[in-house]
Amino acid sequence: MRRAKKITRQEYTIGEENILEVKDLRVNIKVDDYVLNAVRGVSFTMKKGETLGLVGESGCGKSVTSKEILGINPNNCDSTGQVLFRTKSGKVLNLLTLDKDGEVYRGIRGTEMAMIFQEPMTAFSPLYTIGNQLAEIILIHEPRTTKAQARQRVLEMLKKVGIANPEKRIDQYPHEFSGGMLQRALIAMMLLCSPDFLVADEPTTALDVTIQAQILELMKSLQQEFGMSILFITHDLGTVANMCDKVAVMYLGQIVEYGSVGQIFHNPQHPYTKGLLKSLPKMDQSRAEKLYVIDGAVPLAVNLKPSCGFHDRCGECVKGTCDCQEIGTYTVEPGHYVRCALMERKG
Ligand SMILES: Nc1ncnc2c1ncn2[C@@H]1O[C@H](COP(=O)(O)OP(=O)(O)OP(=O)(O)O)[C@@H](O)[C@H]1O
Ligand SMILES: [Mg+2]
Repeated sequence: MRRAKKITRQEYTIGEENILEVKDLRVNIKVDDYVLNAVRGVSFTMKKGETLGLVGESGCGKSVTSKEILGINPNNCDSTGQVLFRTKSGKVLNLLTLDKDGEVYRGIRGTEMAMIFQEPMTAFSPLYTIGNQLAEIILIHEPRTTKAQARQRVLEMLKKVGIANPEKRIDQYPHEFSGGMLQRALIAMMLLCSPDFLVADEPTTALDVTIQAQILELMKSLQQEFGMSILFITHDLGTVANMCDKVAVMYLGQIVEYGSVGQIFHNPQHPYTKGLLKSLPKMDQSRAEKLYVIDGAVPLAVNLKPSCGFHDRCGECVKGTCDCQEIGTYTVEPGHYVRCALMERKG
């Protein structure tokens, strides 16, 4: 069971330009008879209007991290650290001290922060029309709005996200929408409350490539218009280069490298980041040539010994260091950080 968090009156401050500061976030998940250390000391900041790409292999803790920020991890998850968030009114809250189901958090979710999921089909109920489900969001958050006003706003938003013939579409059910249209409707739903902070968790993975490109372009233009900060979770480094300002590379519950898109793509330091970049298909690669793969798989984060999480898959592992001690974070240049013992050697 998740321990009840004490609500404190402590005042928090964050950098003037920042909307979010995550400090030493740790999330442990109780599974049957063991505890999974899914997130192991994650820290990052996000400026207003900035897009941060969170990348890494399946199971490295990207979704658990983002769900903890939104307070929607299930009850078998327990967290420590700080998640400092600047609300629209300018107040800074440590979200980890809030009651996840309490009024304050519920008020923040939707109006201040929102999430777009990988699978849009599961985000809608099959029993109600798209229009009714979108209008409900407005009616819940703005009780003074009439149903007719809400419907009008839904129509405008459906138009804005590029749904053709919205007058007809508004009264249709989710099964009458294609995957791409549902993702557009989901983006419309999220935008209706104009959140300042958005988590997009693999928002285009379920879509085919041409629709993917359209949705990404849509998100980019809407971000410019609404000035949102986006935490963009993806496996796809190509999407990161296209969408993001900064990149955090995650491995086994830790951020192993963080920097601007230019720093990560042109001067990667961590062997894991280098491996991810090497495994990207190249334009001049022949079809016969096999894609590079990083050998092995992400281990289960249970009873981990002090070491670099990547050491047993790393071609540059230094025995006696990487496999037996906790690795610190090194600054490559301002704004570019890496958690790798090889940096010590480079001086
Ligand atoms: N509710 C849960 N109960 C038990 N284990 C969980 C739960 N949620 C996540 N996990 C485990 O926590 C680890 C991190 O999961 P997470 O979903 O954050 O990975 P991810 O990086 O988002 O992966 P993907 O790219 O596949 O979405 C995984 O080992 C996963 O199996
Ligand atoms: Mg995930």
